[in-house]
Amino acid sequence: MVIEELKKNCIPRHVAVIMDGNGRWAELHGNDRIYGHRQGVDAVRSIVEGAGEVGIKYLTLYAFSTENWDRPKNEVNALMSLLVDAIVKEIENLNEKNVKMHAIGNLDSFPSDVQLKLAEAIEKTSSNTGLNLILALSYSGRWDILQMVKQIVSKAINGEIVEKQINESLIVNHLSTSGIPDPELLIRTSGEYRISNFLLWQIAYSEFYFTPILWPDFRKENLFEAIADFQRRERRFGKTSEQIRS
Ligand code: FPP
Repeated sequence: MVIEELKKNCIPRHVAVIMDGNGRWAELHGNDRIYGHRQGVDAVRSIVEGAGEVGIKYLTLYAFSTENWDRPKNEVNALMSLLVDAIVKEIENLNEKNVKMHAIGNLDSFPSDVQLKLAEAIEKTSSNTGLNLILALSYSGRWDILQMVKQIVSKAINGEIVEKQINESLIVNHLSTSGIPDPELLIRTSGEYRISNFLLWQIAYSEFYFTPILWPDFRKENLFEAIADFQRRERRFGKTSEQIRS
């Protein structure tokens, strides 16, 4: 799939990705799980580049879920240092490509040195105006909904809002993705057909694209293929085909 074959006027603004299959990839290559995660960074680099080239404005990557904390301690630690190393190492490259980095999730749950390095990296890309790269870290959709409810309840208790002000846009403004449009396309690699507690509220109308490719083998050409597939679909948002076409 080449980029020229895509319709320029129908590029999803926001693409979200569940990067899955690092462990299986490593096993297939006779190596340990950490090796698979390390190879996964090459896939991240390629799709960040591809997303910029094709004009995607927001790319959200599920890099570390709330549930990932339950993995063996050595894998959690290795993933943590890999993430920090990759983020620090890639900063120059991200700046060259005009990529602005963001992070969503329960960032307080990370060790303070990790938080610091992350905050520094985010700051260093903060004036970029191209692709917004959103890393979901210690993130889960239920965590997001819970933290939103807590914020709204505390504002209600303080008398800052009353019941009739509670509507969808108030909720959207209190989710960690506030200010970011909902993803039009959600990609999951490795042949699994699950959402795994990713952006639960935000994917209400997303198109899903599942591919058997294991994450470390995923490249920007595969992203373009997913976008081509998205472009062949008719998004009806509950309406009829006729209504959409008229
Ligand atoms: C899922 O594969 C992948 C992860 C839990 C980690 C994703 C992290 C990276 C690709 C590292 C780099 C990321 C950035 C943003 C620099 P899995 O371990 O669940 O694979 P399996 O299902 O085959 O066991």
